[in-house]
Amino acid sequence: MPFEFAAKLHDIPPGALRDVRIQGVPVALANVEGKLFAVEGTCPHRGAPLGQGALHGATLVCPWHAWAFDCVTGEHDYNPAICLKRYEVMVENGEVFINIESDARGSSA
Ligand code: FES
Repeated sequence: MPFEFAAKLHDIPPGALRDVRIQGVPVALANVEGKLFAVEGTCPHRGAPLGQGALHGATLVCPWHAWAFDCVTGEHDYNPAICLKRYEVMVENGEVFINIESDARGSSA
């Protein structure tokens, strides 16, 4: 299955982090210096919406207790064994699409 519409590209400018839903599944969509990354949107700590957190460079910070993750690799900053699912992102005609069946954990982006 395929990519699903997530957002208009102009709504995700560089430095932006958004909470989007793909088929009801929460996804955190980040724009790191013009490149888009999508990771699972629910924090593995206590379930906060990661897309409502903060983005500092490529570091996504959870809004509840400040766990931090690299949104390129999905890894927690202190414990790489804790790793978010990463999803493929595609941009076409000014629209952003995400494939939530494309968990890329363990492989390079
Ligand atoms: S819920 Fe994310 S750090 Fe606690």
